[in-house]
Amino acid sequence: MGKDVIIACDFPGREETLAFLDRFQDRKPFVKIGMELFYAEGPQIVREIKARGHQIFLDLKLHDIPNTVEKAMRSLARLNVDMTNVHAAGTIEMMKAARRGLTREDGTSPLLIAVTQLTSTGQDQLEKDLLINHPINEVITAYARNTREAGLDGVVCSPLEAGMIHEACGEGFVTVTPGVRFAGAAADDQTRITTPEKAKAIGSDYIVVGRPITQAEDPVAAYARCVREFVD
Ligand code: C5P
Repeated sequence: MGKDVIIACDFPGREETLAFLDRFQDRKPFVKIGMELFYAEGPQIVREIKARGHQIFLDLKLHDIPNTVEKAMRSLARLNVDMTNVHAAGTIEMMKAARRGLTREDGTSPLLIAVTQLTSTGQDQLEKDLLINHPINEVITAYARNTREAGLDGVVCSPLEAGMIHEACGEGFVTVTPGVRFAGAAADDQTRITTPEKAKAIGSDYIVVGRPITQAEDPVAAYARCVREFVD
C-alpha cells in the first residue's frame, strides 16, 4: 500500500478551497472532502478538484439500509473518487452493499474504508448511550474484522491504533489515520495524537492532516514537512 499524506480540506466553500489548492504547484496533494464542503457545494466541487489532478477521499461516512447505501455508492463511483467510507456499525450486509455499489463495470473500485467508532466516542458514551458493554479497543477491533469480512479495504482509526488493527486484520488492511500533529505543536481538539514520523513507525498507511497544514503560515512547506516525515 502506497503511503501518502491526505490534506483535510475543511473549508466552508469553493472559493477558499480552490484558493488554498492553487498554492500547490509542484506536487498535487491527495485531498479529503468532508460533509461541510460537499453539502455546501455539491458533487461539482469533487469534479472540479479531480479535474485539477488531485486524488480525492470523499469522507461522507454513509450509514443507512443496504439498498440505499448501494445506490448512493453507485452515484459516488460515477464521481470517480479515489477513496470513500461508511460506518461499520451499518453491519456487514450494509458494507457488502456499499462495495457492490462502488464497483465499476470493469470490476475495479475506489478504496472503501469504514469508521469503527468515532474518536469523539469514549468508553462512557459507548456504555451509556450505545449500550455496548465491551472495552472500546475490543469494539474497534471487532468492527475492523467485520469490515475485512465484508470485503472492504480498511478502516479510519487513530494512528495509535494502526498497529493493533494490522495485527488483527493483516498488514495489507489499510489504516487511514487523522489525529496527526508536528512535534511540539498545539493539539487543538484532538486527543489521541502523534507525529507523522511516529505514525509511519506504527504503520499507518495514510495520514489525514487538516489544521497543521491548512492553518500554517506556509501550507506548502507544512505539507512538504509531512511528506518528508511520513512518506520519504
Ligand atoms: O485539523 P485536523 O488535522 O484535526 O483534521 C483532521 C480531519 O480528520 C478532520 O477533517 C476531521 O473531521 C477528520 N477526522 C478526525 N477523526 C476521526 C475521523 C475524521 O479527526 N476519527
